[in-house]
Parts: sequence; structure tokens; C-alpha cells
Amino acid sequence: MIELAPSILSADFAHLADHIQGAVDGGATLLHVDVMDGHFVPNLTMGPPVVKSIRKATGLELDLHLMIEDPDKFVTAFVEAGADRMSVHQEACRHLHRTIQLIQSEGVGAGVVLNPATPVATLEDVLGMVDYVLVMSVNPGFGGQEFIPHALDKIRRLNQIRQDARLDFAIEIDGGVSTSNVEEIVRAGCDWLVAGSSIFHSADPGATVKEMQHLATEARAIRV
Ligand code: DX5
Ligand code: ZN
Repeated sequence: MIELAPSILSADFAHLADHIQGAVDGGATLLHVDVMDGHFVPNLTMGPPVVKSIRKATGLELDLHLMIEDPDKFVTAFVEAGADRMSVHQEACRHLHRTIQLIQSEGVGAGVVLNPATPVATLEDVLGMVDYVLVMSVNPGFGGQEFIPHALDKIRRLNQIRQDARLDFAIEIDGGVSTSNVEEIVRAGCDWLVAGSSIFHSADPGATVKEMQHLATEARAIRV
């Protein structure tokens, strides 16, 4: 099933609950929450207390994207705050296998994120244990950037490995996703679509979510 995850980075934080509700009305199935530390990426966002408030404001599953150094330190706090799944950057983890185990031991899904310059091959030895792989289609840190088409090749490669090795991790994409590229992303093999500015900066976020979901579902039907 295709899941659409609005990224609240582009929402108005003073009216977050309303914005989330608009996305839910349009059919969003999870909410993407970007955590940035000002070190791993040149931007700062939120910590566990804000995630806890978001948890209270919605019943949607929370998909946490940790763009932070040394994520092991914060895994437990974010799970306690309400995360349902959590991804860490390959580039930020010295002991990636241990970090994945830690997240899973907390009872939530574990994902690994690849920056645009990080090859799929770096995940060869953990693909059998991860719940999902997040392919960045922009450099992390900011919403509203242009989609990097090479991400499609990485999705195709991951999809091929998944089929050949009979694995069942999900493939997620993040950055520059909009109604204009949803179909080719899904056809490449992607399952979860993160979209921030194309949803929350549109005139009607609920309608945009609905349109993206529709395009994605049609493309998924062709893929099978
Ligand atoms: C960027 C974040 C994204 C961001 C995407 O570092 O990880 O989740 O919100 O925003 P758009 O969809 O506007 O590219
Ligand atoms: Zn993100």
C-alpha cells in the first residue's frame, strides 16, 4: 500500500493541529516529523517535548526522521514521546547495526536514510534487518528544494535488491515530492511518499493530499 506522509516542517506551527487535520481529511496515513540538530544539518527544529504535543494532537502514526548526530542518545526519549517509526542517517551512525537494533528493541520500526551522495551499496549488510529505507531526493535540512532525479535510480536499485533477495523493507522518499513526480516515483518502486511544501503551501492541503494519493494509487496499480 502507498502511504502519504505530509512533512510538518512546512506547516504553520502555530496552527499545527488544524494543518494536520486538513491533511488527515485528504487521506494522509502518517505524519512525517523532521528532527534537526544544527550539527548534522544546518537547521534546527524540535525535540521530544514538541513530538509529545504532536502525539496528543493526532492519531496518525508519527514517522520521525532524525537528522541528528549520535541518534542513539535520543531514541528512547523520542519513542516515549510518541514515535511509531524512526529513521536515522547512515552518515550519522558509527555503529549502524547497533542503532537499528536499539530502535527495534524499543518496539518501533527502524529506517535508515541515505543522503543524495550516499550509495545504496553502503546498506548491503543491513537491508535484511531494516523496516524501511528512506532515500533523500534533496540534501537534508530544508523544505522547498528541487527534486534530485538520481533518487529514482536509487529507488529502482533498492526495489530490485528487495525482489531478488525476497526482503520486505519499505522504500520511502523525501524531498521535492509533488503531484508532478509522484507517479514516476511510485513506478520506480517507492512505497511511502513524504511531501512538505507541495502540500502545506498549496491553496488546499487536503485536496492536494487527495490528488497525490490518487496519482500514487493509479501508478501502483500499473506497477504490480
Ligand atoms: C528535509 C526534510 C523533508 C522536508 C521535505 O530535510 O527531511 O522532510 O520537509 O520538504 P519538501 O517536500 O518541501 O521538499
Ligand atoms: Zn524528512
